[in-house]
Amino acid sequence: MSGAGAKRPRVLSGMRPTGRLHLGNYLGALQNWVSMQHQCESFFMVADWHALTTDHEHTDQIAPNTHEMVTDWLAAGIDPEKSPVFIQSRVKEHAELHLLFSMLVTVSRLERNPTVKEQVRDLELEETITYGLLGYPVLQAADILLYRATLVPVGEDQVPHVELTREIARRFNALYGEVFPVPDPKLTHFPRLPGLDGRRMSKSLGNTILLADSPQEIEAKVRTAFTDPKKLRKDDPGNPDGCVVFAYHRAFHPAGAAQIERDCRAGAIGCVADKRELAGIVARSLEPIREKRKELEAHPERVREALRYGEEKARAMAVETMRQVREAMKLG
Ligand code: TRP
Repeated sequence: MSGAGAKRPRVLSGMRPTGRLHLGNYLGALQNWVSMQHQCESFFMVADWHALTTDHEHTDQIAPNTHEMVTDWLAAGIDPEKSPVFIQSRVKEHAELHLLFSMLVTVSRLERNPTVKEQVRDLELEETITYGLLGYPVLQAADILLYRATLVPVGEDQVPHVELTREIARRFNALYGEVFPVPDPKLTHFPRLPGLDGRRMSKSLGNTILLADSPQEIEAKVRTAFTDPKKLRKDDPGNPDGCVVFAYHRAFHPAGAAQIERDCRAGAIGCVADKRELAGIVARSLEPIREKRKELEAHPERVREALRYGEEKARAMAVETMRQVREAMKLG
């Protein structure tokens, strides 16, 4: 079920402003956004208030990180005239709807959220979890429902938040009248790309390849990638399972990966040559993004302009939703 008056699906998704994006962000989310914008009316949001929920003490990087990230969005093919891109904190209606939704959720319901639990564990916040961190999934529900989105492209870890969003939409509609569609998550089916060291790819682990990296940077990084530790010489037979280089082969040229697998297992290709080949393939497939990025770096005002335009579009939608919400709730 995808909610009210389903014609063209309406999409809202967001990312925290983490700065330049890496290949995991691209294959796991951004590529999906780019392709969805053709079939769906789409809104793409910089979740800057969400960034505060895990790090409210350091705010100086939020603005530059936002600029870098949105530059990557546009470089990767988000068309800001078709799909508004905007900054959450510029549209204050998110805060108003969040407050109203906060009445519809119990604290114990929030404490059961597996993704929040994991964040609390990872960041060792058990004793110091803030009201804002516990409640950010409610803010996320407001992000989604403010645009009356029917489809939310996200990774697996965000599904509990979309589930909560669905509950809030139903509860609101039952209490005050039908305002919101009940949105569906849209999972990215791309297998998770490992970082260069084989752990999950993450900026904080320093194991990423960035969309903005030059061919030389890509080559230098791929040279450090984790491969089968038992394959010591180039003609030793290798095991591609668990080899990072092979995982990237599969991601970037699935058609050629089978041959690489055979050659590796037969000891017909060494890791050094294999890495050099992969680096070339990755660099070539990122070339259009890199070129577009250079253009945007020379014209940073285009990124700012896209955000200004997106903000206007987003606000118009948000203002209309809040009008309906206040009317349904008999407020103001
Ligand atoms: N919580 C998401 C993340 O950490 C970002 C986000 C905020 C989001 N609001 C959203 C994603 C709304 C989808 C829809 O990645």
